[in-house]
Amino acid sequence: MKAVTRSGAGGPDVLSLGEAPDPVPGDGEVLIAVVAAGVNRADLLQRQGNYPPPKGASELLGLEVSGTIAGVGFGVDHWSVGDPCVALLAGGGYAELVAVPAGQVVAPPRGVDLVTAAGLIEVSATVVSNFDATSVRRGETVLVHGGAGGIGSFAIQYAHSIGARVIATAGSTDKVTYCLELGADAAMSYREDWVGEVSRLTENHGVDVILDVMGASYLEPNVASLAVGGRLIVIGLQGGRKGTLDLGRLMTIRGSVLSTTLRSRPVAEKSAICCRVTEVVWPLIGSGAIRPAPQTAFPLAEVAAAHRRLESGDNIGKVVLTV
Ligand SMILES: NC(=O)c1ccc[n+]([C@@H]2O[C@H](COP(=O)([O-])OP(=O)(O)OC[C@H]3O[C@@H](n4cnc5c(N)ncnc54)[C@H](OP(=O)(O)O)[C@@H]3O)[C@@H](O)[C@H]2O)c1
Repeated sequence: MKAVTRSGAGGPDVLSLGEAPDPVPGDGEVLIAVVAAGVNRADLLQRQGNYPPPKGASELLGLEVSGTIAGVGFGVDHWSVGDPCVALLAGGGYAELVAVPAGQVVAPPRGVDLVTAAGLIEVSATVVSNFDATSVRRGETVLVHGGAGGIGSFAIQYAHSIGARVIATAGSTDKVTYCLELGADAAMSYREDWVGEVSRLTENHGVDVILDVMGASYLEPNVASLAVGGRLIVIGLQGGRKGTLDLGRLMTIRGSVLSTTLRSRPVAEKSAICCRVTEVVWPLIGSGAIRPAPQTAFPLAEVAAAHRRLESGDNIGKVVLTV
């Protein structure tokens, strides 16, 4: 099959369209003929050699695809060849074919074409599992960092659908405006005094939940911005991995700091998260309450350009590769 291969660790030009062996679905797996693959920030890290795939996963890049079922392994009885689907992967999505545990495969949301659907499952699974872990409730205030990104643009809409008040940060005026269009109650540039602005917006109470994609560089200001009983959940380390945690402040507010990653979770956990996504997110997309993020699509052969686009920070929404 055709697949994106990597000549080594480095910049986007290490990626090109090449050949790889056809995957064979094992017991409990399905084979998917890929229509489109989502490009995620984790893929950029893997390309650079900084995010190796978990044990047993494909060495090829790609954490999510849409497509049609092209084969079923032993013990899979609920999928048939030709069925449209989307899948959450541990790797292998930048290819014509990918094999994946059947539990991580779901039907696309109603009314969504397969190219658009390619960029939905990774953000949905990440946000839903992390909002579940922090028990985000109606009436609470949620701060979403990077609100115009793939994760952030989904998180704003999902938090809004739960009935939370949403504050978002973003890097440019256009992106701040986009966060407001998505339903954020307030949004501001992270290049300005966002801590002061959060304090002002919450009348010094702070926010109940923070979805953070920065890690170390935001640890202190995030903890300083939490309300009593507040929960900070760190899912990205764009600002580094080792920061300073003010335990005194955390104790005083009876706060918590959590961190999760989706990719390394066992198949059973990922399958449960996929079920939850179809229960809670797909109906919201079907009803129009959540709009899929705008997409910038590149053919698979232009994978280097797709990576450059995401890396530039200029993109709003998702980047996808069409196969
Ligand atoms: N743990 C997990 O399971 C998991 C799963 C998926 C993703 N992630 C992580 O989540 C992060 C976002 O992923 P993505 O797919 O949404 O990537 P993306 O679309 O490239 O978004 C990156 C976001 O980071 C924001 N950002 C950059 N510098 C910032 C700063 N100083 N303050 C606040 N925000 C800043 C960007 O804002 P602007 O564009 O406005 O500059 C952008 O919204 C990545 O770090 C990724 O690795 C983790």
